[in-house]
Amino acid sequence: MTISNDIRYAGVNDRLIDLFEGQYKVPNGMSYNSYVILDRKTAVMDTVDARFTHEWLDNLEKALGGRKPDYLVVQHMEPDHSANILNFMKVYPETVVVSSKKAFDMMQNFFGADFADRRLVVGEGDTLELGEHTLHFIAAPMVHWPEVLMTYDSKDRVLFSADGFGKFGTPDTQEPWADEARRYYIGIVGKYGVQVQNVLKKAANLDIAAIAPLHGPVLTENLGYYLNLYDIWSSYRAEEEGVVIAYTSVYGHTRAAVQKLADKLGAKGCPRVVIYDLARCDMSAAVADAFRYSRLVLATTTYNAEIFPFMRTFLETLAEHGFKKRTVGLIENGSWAPMAAKGMQAVLANCKDLTICKNIVHIKSALNEESGAQLEALADELCAEYEAQRGETANKNDLTALFNIGYGLYVVTSNDGVKDNGLIVNTVSQLTSQPNRVAVTINKANYSHHVIQKTGIMNVNCLSVEAPFSVFEAFGFRSGRSVDKFKDCTPLRSDNGLVFLPRYINSFLSLKVEQYIDMDTHGMFICTVTEARVISKAETMTYTYYQNHVKPRPQTEGKKGFVCKICGYIYEGDELPEDFICPLCKHGAADFEPIA
Ligand code: FEO
Repeated sequence: MTISNDIRYAGVNDRLIDLFEGQYKVPNGMSYNSYVILDRKTAVMDTVDARFTHEWLDNLEKALGGRKPDYLVVQHMEPDHSANILNFMKVYPETVVVSSKKAFDMMQNFFGADFADRRLVVGEGDTLELGEHTLHFIAAPMVHWPEVLMTYDSKDRVLFSADGFGKFGTPDTQEPWADEARRYYIGIVGKYGVQVQNVLKKAANLDIAAIAPLHGPVLTENLGYYLNLYDIWSSYRAEEEGVVIAYTSVYGHTRAAVQKLADKLGAKGCPRVVIYDLARCDMSAAVADAFRYSRLVLATTTYNAEIFPFMRTFLETLAEHGFKKRTVGLIENGSWAPMAAKGMQAVLANCKDLTICKNIVHIKSALNEESGAQLEALADELCAEYEAQRGETANKNDLTALFNIGYGLYVVTSNDGVKDNGLIVNTVSQLTSQPNRVAVTINKANYSHHVIQKTGIMNVNCLSVEAPFSVFEAFGFRSGRSVDKFKDCTPLRSDNGLVFLPRYINSFLSLKVEQYIDMDTHGMFICTVTEARVISKAETMTYTYYQNHVKPRPQTEGKKGFVCKICGYIYEGDELPEDFICPLCKHGAADFEPIA
């Protein structure tokens, strides 16, 4: 096989192998790739597995066309590629072995020889001139052993990628590349995502026409597709939306629950549901799909007060391979002392950035009404996004979406001619930049609205995350008509004579009203900026930050009624009147939620 005018394939296919690396089923065999580069000097790229010595040496002889190899480049010392180094050197004793320092140490360990008199030690950034072809060496530690080098031929723009971009199955197998490449990648290199990312960064600087790995086909077209998949796999992002359900079942009750869940997920719009019976499936396929899809459900039986053995193996394999950044649902079964959910969570604690679904299904022997409802709740939780994305299932009138608009929080200061005033708003936005125009919307019920309408000026104080709840109490929940909000502080003044806050702000803007828009309950002031100062580098207080970190949790325990999401005011009663206005913050009934 010819890769380019000067590069020939000399690898071998292994169709008899039962388990690759002693553990992975390879129904379509395996290839051990080797290449020959013909130039003024000749180079052989890697050897092959021990069982193919003569077939490979025959291939080499043919590819060399009667020439002698000047260099043997050893990119990787795992025996599927290095086993024939010694045999090769017996046939071609004049050849110089080119490899990394670590690889020569390994040769000494494997063969009792490190070719000290015929070797060239290379590392990151080193080059080797063959004539028109120059080989550039790229260190690729842990992809998949520490000594690994990749090699870039800058003439033909071929990246010899060692184990990277390899796959199970011989190159002539008619099958999609991704499935067996994924199972290979997750199984062999999956743990070393950071190291793969490092190599991808180096590859991004290369002009690559072909990728020549040590297993599987040479990749020559649409390279972005393969590089993108490697980027996804090595950064542990989900490749596709969907749910993998991995289960074990002794008498079929857990299996029945799994099937029921799969039906529910399908009905709720889950784009793909894949089920694995861990006692019977190829475990490496289940592991690869757990990495492939965005969500994973684990269903298993309690066994010896622990997890059923196949599930334990599955979870430990996931953890060993760096499984992370996924949503995981749990179903446990136990007839008298269910322990599986706890056991599974203990193993999953070794995986980073998992979101464990809050609805855990506890089956006592067989599904009943209670565990059936838990299964329904788990399906809802797993499919909430899918349901919201689909026109048929979405709630199209969910006004809580408005809470997801990003707001900052501000104190707007003004002066009625007698005293300074201030109120909290979240409705400040920049409208244009040339000139700078800023809109501030204020509830007409607030005294500040009245004052600003009369005076035409205001200061917007941008609160920083340092602002405590007392600032919100001081400016938020009472009227400046009846209270002097600056009574206890010595305010600072901007050029327009208005106050700006001496603490807890990162900047302020002095605004002059140019236009007013009446919006029934509120008025919008459209303003130009007359002064703008940055006070500190502290981050701006957002509405979300306020909700999560500043606002005290309302004391709802033992109370029945509704709580204001803005200020925490509690309305006790069975029904909240539609026209209810919060006496503290003046927000309406829409901003209340029932006490859970
Ligand atoms: Fe294909 Fe890591 O050896």
